[in-house]
Amino acid sequence: MKFFIDTANLDQIREANELGILDGVTTNPSLMAKEGIKGEEAIRQHYLTICEMVDGPVSAEVLGTTFEGMVEEGKKLAAIHKNIVVKIPMTKDGIKAIKWFTDNDIQTNCTLVFSAGQAILAAKAGATYVSPFIGRIDDSSWDGVQLIEQIVNIYNSQGFMTEVLAASIRTPLHIVRCAEAGADVCTCPLPSILGLLKHPLTDLGLAQFLKDAESMK
Ligand code: G3P
Repeated sequence: MKFFIDTANLDQIREANELGILDGVTTNPSLMAKEGIKGEEAIRQHYLTICEMVDGPVSAEVLGTTFEGMVEEGKKLAAIHKNIVVKIPMTKDGIKAIKWFTDNDIQTNCTLVFSAGQAILAAKAGATYVSPFIGRIDDSSWDGVQLIEQIVNIYNSQGFMTEVLAASIRTPLHIVRCAEAGADVCTCPLPSILGLLKHPLTDLGLAQFLKDAESMK
């Protein structure tokens, strides 16, 4: 399973990248706005900076909602760097735009996916990635990881090439369960990635080893 970081914060991207386990980055308009990025040139520059930091796919979301608008915007985003993946919302115009980008060899990430039916449509349009939002599904008392399992099964049995990118990850356990469910990619906030490191027995064991190491000097 590939690890992407789900943020537009450069310090967090750097910290995750320094671990050596980062395969890519996803952003969305909320994450970009949180960093105070405003205006076309600032957006372009920010994506370029991220692409220069991380050697892997970087999802950049369109802000428009019409087919024509998404295509125009997506073409500009894709021109920023070869690793840009154009992120498109799951709407009727979005599906048309994904098909257009597929036909023009531009990678896409179909976002705001909450059902298997939506995931089938995204795959039919040729999306490179599909992003089910598992945390938001859990928020409404459904099981987000079950949706990952369902989509993985459908894609495998139908031979769809679209990669299942589990998004809206909230906890380290989400990451573990998505790995079990066969997700191709997990895009995670930094605290969830770092949470995977934690176990009290590791801390206790290391403290004992360090103490015993002292006695050996
Ligand atoms: O990748 C989508 C993700 O950023 C949404 O996460 O926590 O806002 O549901 P969240």
